[in-house]
Amino acid sequence: MTIISHCTLRTLTDAATALREGRLVVFPTETVYGLGADAENEASVRRIYEVKGRPLDHPVIVHIGDLKYLESWVSEIPDYAIQLARDFWPGSMTLVLPRSDLAKDFITGGQESVGIRIPAHPLALQLLKEFHLQGGKGVAAPSANRFGEVSPTSAEAAQEEIGARLANDDLILDGGHCVVGIESTVIDCRGERPRILRPGAITEKMIFEATGLEVDDEPSSLRVSGSLENHYAPRARVIVGSSSLPGAGFLALAKIPTPDGMIRLALPETVDEYGRVFYRSLREADHQGLETIVIVAPEGEGLATAIRDRIEKARTK
Ligand code: TXA
Ligand code: MG
Repeated sequence: MTIISHCTLRTLTDAATALREGRLVVFPTETVYGLGADAENEASVRRIYEVKGRPLDHPVIVHIGDLKYLESWVSEIPDYAIQLARDFWPGSMTLVLPRSDLAKDFITGGQESVGIRIPAHPLALQLLKEFHLQGGKGVAAPSANRFGEVSPTSAEAAQEEIGARLANDDLILDGGHCVVGIESTVIDCRGERPRILRPGAITEKMIFEATGLEVDDEPSSLRVSGSLENHYAPRARVIVGSSSLPGAGFLALAKIPTPDGMIRLALPETVDEYGRVFYRSLREADHQGLETIVIVAPEGEGLATAIRDRIEKARTK
């Protein structure tokens, strides 16, 4: 595997070619790093599952570089989904829609729906643009971590997670630290109203403002691997609250002082910054070999809701 740390137009064209030739390319998005394969190539997509150690019935998101490719992948698009796409793409949002014939079982995990996203990271967008120019329709990409582990928010973290399992001619594109740091909001758009399957930076309130619709709170029948318990978990045990535990890692907003003897993992001033450093901090605690991490969750709505969701998952071990 080769890491490309200075991505130029030329290297992105080559990376798009690599995808078209069936190789895997790890690429940055604004949320987390993705492990990409040509979404039409079954053998390549199978390799994603092997590298991640992920069960075969879990669907992967198809990434596209332009709204015009949405129609190839889906068979129906309700008006509110078009509104969401126009307002929030490129961005941290995945829309789940009824699939077209192009979205095969190896993408959807055998379900009748497919998840689609246009990511906002400039390198991802350029890679997708080049990929489309070379005739590609979409790039399948789950987060570039081993199944159940912490999502990578930097190229080094992705390499640490799966580097050893990639082939010699696979690539990792380095696009720096992810600016959002928490995976996209997954929205089920098969019903009368949108339904959030996984919270993220695109919030209930934003969905309401874009569509005039309150999100549906009924539990969904869809399988979402990110909604399994025991996901996104570090090796260290995660305790939520403000217990003082000398020797343990500590993650909280900067305004909350570090209890005596605890190891501060990050000093996020805002909730956005908290999201940015969250996975990095869990990873840092594991690097330091800490047994326990004490986390004070951010309060409030919006991204804080998504962060609390990931904290809950990190603690269920
Ligand atoms: O931010 C993100 O979404 C990142 C970046 C790389 O785009 N990707 C990501 O992929 O988090 P992954 O596979 O780790 O999580 C995708 C989530 C899973 O919970 C999956 O079950 C759900 O989206 N999903 C994908 N396709 C779906 C479908 N057809 N129906 C229901 N859920 C789906
Ligand atoms: Mg994931």
